[in-house]
Amino acid sequence: MTTSVARFDRWIRNEFVEYNTALEEAYFAERREVLDGRPELDEPKRAIVTEGHHLIGRILDEGALPVVEREKYQLLGMVGYHLAACRRHESVAPGAEELSAAWSLASLLGSSLGVAPRFVFAHQAMYNPASGGQFQTFTSLEDEAVFLTNNGLAVFAYQRAAEAIRRVVPIGVSSPLSAYLLETARAALEDVLQFNRTLSKTLDVERFFFNVRPYFKTYRVGNAEYRGANAGDFSAINELDVLLGLATTRDPFYQNVVVEKYPYVTPEDQVRLRAIGGEQSLLTRFLREAESSPDPQLVRNAELFLAVCRAHGAAYTYHHHKLVLPFLVEPAKTAPPERLSELTASGPPLAVVVSGLSYLADLRSARDRPGKPSARKDLDRLRELVSRGTGDGHPASLTATAE
Ligand code: HEM
Repeated sequence: MTTSVARFDRWIRNEFVEYNTALEEAYFAERREVLDGRPELDEPKRAIVTEGHHLIGRILDEGALPVVEREKYQLLGMVGYHLAACRRHESVAPGAEELSAAWSLASLLGSSLGVAPRFVFAHQAMYNPASGGQFQTFTSLEDEAVFLTNNGLAVFAYQRAAEAIRRVVPIGVSSPLSAYLLETARAALEDVLQFNRTLSKTLDVERFFFNVRPYFKTYRVGNAEYRGANAGDFSAINELDVLLGLATTRDPFYQNVVVEKYPYVTPEDQVRLRAIGGEQSLLTRFLREAESSPDPQLVRNAELFLAVCRAHGAAYTYHHHKLVLPFLVEPAKTAPPERLSELTASGPPLAVVVSGLSYLADLRSARDRPGKPSARKDLDRLRELVSRGTGDGHPASLTATAE
């Protein structure tokens, strides 16, 4: 780390956190998203803008940008925290020159890495370097740490599941080794559900709504506006959807979900997103083998596969009913009308985003909806073939239920 980057890093971990936290406490006391026209709050708002501008300017002046890709990505995240905080406190007029250094550094780093020049969820979870047990945050509020920790853990668990499912492809669905991989994926998806449960039980709805969520908004870099950070910006969940056979990139809605997130994921996840759809799904492979030669190992693996699909559906249905609805949709009902347009990370009105998420929840839990794609019929067929193989005429239902 060069001297100027180290100085910026120290500032992000100390003064930046103090300014944001003081502002958040003032907003929270009045249950307002932001407060204007309060002279005592102008000082920390201005300090975030000017001190950040100065420190970023020093990095540009030093002219020694990181060479290692990971360090470039981490620096892009730090510049992004500064820009996101300026946006969140609404402390810079649109078009003001005060962000020019940050825009310039973010653009340099973003174009060199081939990603959107803004901070994304991966900067906060997978690329957030802890020092003395403390990772980078906007505030020192407990709820921000709870949110980041459980989101990060859920993403790691999704990645563990996707890694296991990916490994089934070259060895085949009837391999005795696949049983271990399917079992790993099921356990990992149950961990996702567990982390989501912990999040739902420990995160305070109002703290999330007033003090955590506003840092994830859309912001500008130069002349372009980049949509907000989204905990779903990682490839593993989509790899799972398509490899399991619950979704397909031939579905225009789903294809758009995958393509849209491309600039907002890490460079290594971009490679994985590009590869999605290149392999036949496990569901198709299971059906083919089960129809022709349902040997005991295949039957055992198919039962495990069905359990993986159930766990995937359950984790995402929980996300919808116990995170999206209570933490965003419910509190949004009391938000002032002029704030409603800024509630989602991706930009469209909340109702549109929620309807899209509900569509995804249906795909992942293989729920039948008239006129919409669903893996339900194929899963039922596989379940039937499996139950014939085991002599059990009453297989477990595949419909995922949220708590
Ligand atoms: C309080 C907690 C959470 C809330 C309120 C929430 C809300 C949302 C919202 C509103 C979106 C749509 C974003 C947009 O397009 O504007 C979204 C997307 C997504 N979230 Fe969450 N989320 C939360 C936690 C999590 C966690 C812990 C995970 C687990 C990794 C997660 C995974 C996803 C995924 C994967 C998507 C993208 C859609 C997809 O590809 O399926 N979220 N979330």
